[in-house]
This record gives sequence, structure tokens and C-alpha cells, in this order.
Amino acid sequence: MIKKNVTTVNFFILKGISDVPELQVLIFSLVLLIYNISLGGNLVILLLVCLDSQLHTPMYFFLCNLSALNISSTTVTLHKILSIFAIKYNVVSFNDCMAQVCMFSWLSGNEFILLTAMSYDRYVAICNPLRYLTVMNERACAGLALFCWTFSLLQMLPAMVIVSRFSCYTSNTIDHFFCDMIALINLSCSDTSILKLLIFTEGVLLSTFTPFLLTFISYSFIIATILRIKSTNGRSKAFYTCSSHITVVVLHYTTIVCQYLIPSGTFKSSKLLSLLNTAVVPMLNPIIYSLKNKEVKLALCRKKKNFTSIL
Ligand SMILES: *[C@@H]1O[C@H](CO)[C@@H](O)[C@H](O)[C@H]1NC(C)=O
Repeated sequence: MIKKNVTTVNFFILKGISDVPELQVLIFSLVLLIYNISLGGNLVILLLVCLDSQLHTPMYFFLCNLSALNISSTTVTLHKILSIFAIKYNVVSFNDCMAQVCMFSWLSGNEFILLTAMSYDRYVAICNPLRYLTVMNERACAGLALFCWTFSLLQMLPAMVIVSRFSCYTSNTIDHFFCDMIALINLSCSDTSILKLLIFTEGVLLSTFTPFLLTFISYSFIIATILRIKSTNGRSKAFYTCSSHITVVVLHYTTIVCQYLIPSGTFKSSKLLSLLNTAVVPMLNPIIYSLKNKEVKLALCRKKKNFTSIL
């Protein structure tokens, strides 16, 4: 086996989504559209929660965190793919590539942890409604949010240190549209066994499976409590307050399972799934929350009235 060792890599070349020239414009427009909808939708949620005092509750503060996360993660992954299409510049320096791997691992790790914090919020609201405001007080919420962001940052640092020290690459062409840790591992001829173990324990067990388990437990209690409610009206009301969150949770876990557990026969399909995960899902979060949630819809109407009265 001939191994072409490129020992020092100063830059990487990103191949993008597809090499078919006819598809470029179509993909570019689609990604740009998705990015804009996602940016717009998440900004609306951020502004609404800040401006509308009726949305100043723990649930909406966490939704705000999720929107901030969505904006950052789509920007981190999509800015490069857009510039590849727009100015045909597909070179990314080693440091930029590492920065992208780092940011993406942090943000994508935080997503599931934040969703778990949100499910804990729903658990307290439904199973312990009388103590909701004392348990989820301002300090507890801020602490929980801070924990999510720092925990996800700390848990990906060891893997980051190892990746940045890879000294040997077989090629510097990445067949992806952003610097993905897995794609880098596939290119490396350094010893990747420790890193693979770290990704399994931290990426899979700690920041995906554990959050899933905790969310599942929260919802088991929530459903048990809802089923014990006597009146149908009360039951549907209680369910209604969790419906947007559970939809978002199901969406996130199904796409991640599709991306990583379905054996990717062709790398193309895995790139598309990755696009679904990094671009489409963050776009859907604010849409789900504003379509399925009466409070958000009402707040939107109030703000629209305010705007028209100012104009
Ligand atoms: C995240 O949530 C915390 C706790 O509710 C809140 O204090 C903070 O303002 C939120 N941050 C953002 C960016 O939404």
C-alpha cells in the first residue's frame, strides 16, 4: 500500500457538497435560503423573548439560548460553504479549520445538553407546578444555562487537543463542506485510536446518549403526571405546554441517529444528512416554536401591533 504522506499541512481544501457544475447554483441558492430563514427565525425568537415581558419565563429563556446556539452553529458551518460557492474559494488555513472543528464540536455538543435542561424545566413545570417558580428561579436558570455551555466546552477540549496535534495527513483535501472532526480523522495517518475512543465516550455517551436518557426519564414522569390529570381539558393543556419542546427533541434525535447510525454507503448521502443536521434542523426550531405555541403567536401579534402603531 502506497501512502502519500503529507506530513505538514498548512491548509485544507474543502470539496463542498457536490462537484457537479450544474448543481452548484441550485445548492448555493438553497443553502443561502435556508441560512437566511434560520437566521431570521432565530433572531425573531431572541428579540421577542427580550422585548415581551410575558415571555420572561424559564422556558423562553432556554429557548433563547437554543436560538443563540442555532445562529452560531449555522454560521460556523455554513459561512464556508457559501463562500466556496460565491467566490470559488475553497481553501481553509489549518488554524481556521481547527477553529471550525472546535466551535462545531462545542455547539453541537451543547445542543443536546440544552435540550435536556429544557426538558428538566418542563418536568418541574408539570410535575411540580406549585414550586415551579421557586425551583426554576433566576439564579437556578442562569446556573443551569452556564453549566450547559461550560460543560459542553470542557468535554470536547481533550479531543480538540489531540486533533490539533495530528502531524501526518495522507491528503489535505476534505470531502466535506466544513472541517468535520470525522473527516479529519479519515485523512490522518497519525494514531487515531485514542481520539476515536474519546469521541465515543464523550461525543456519543456523554453528550448524546446521557442527555437522551435524562430527557426520556423527564418525559416518562411528565407523561405519567399528565395521565393522572382527571379533566381532559387540564390534560390537553398540560400536554400543550410541552408539545413544541418534544417535537424539537424528536427532530434532533432522529436526525442525529440517521446521520451517525445509518451506515453511510456513499459519502454523498452522509454529506446531505449532515446538511440536514447543521442547516435544516436549526431552521425548524423557531418555526416549530412559533407555529405550535400560542404564547409565541400572541407575542408576535402584540409586537406587530406595536410596530404598525409606531409607523
Ligand atoms: C440563557 O438562559 C439564561 C437562563 O435562563 C438566561 O439568563 C440567558 O439570558 C440566556 N442567554 C441567551 C443568550 O439567551
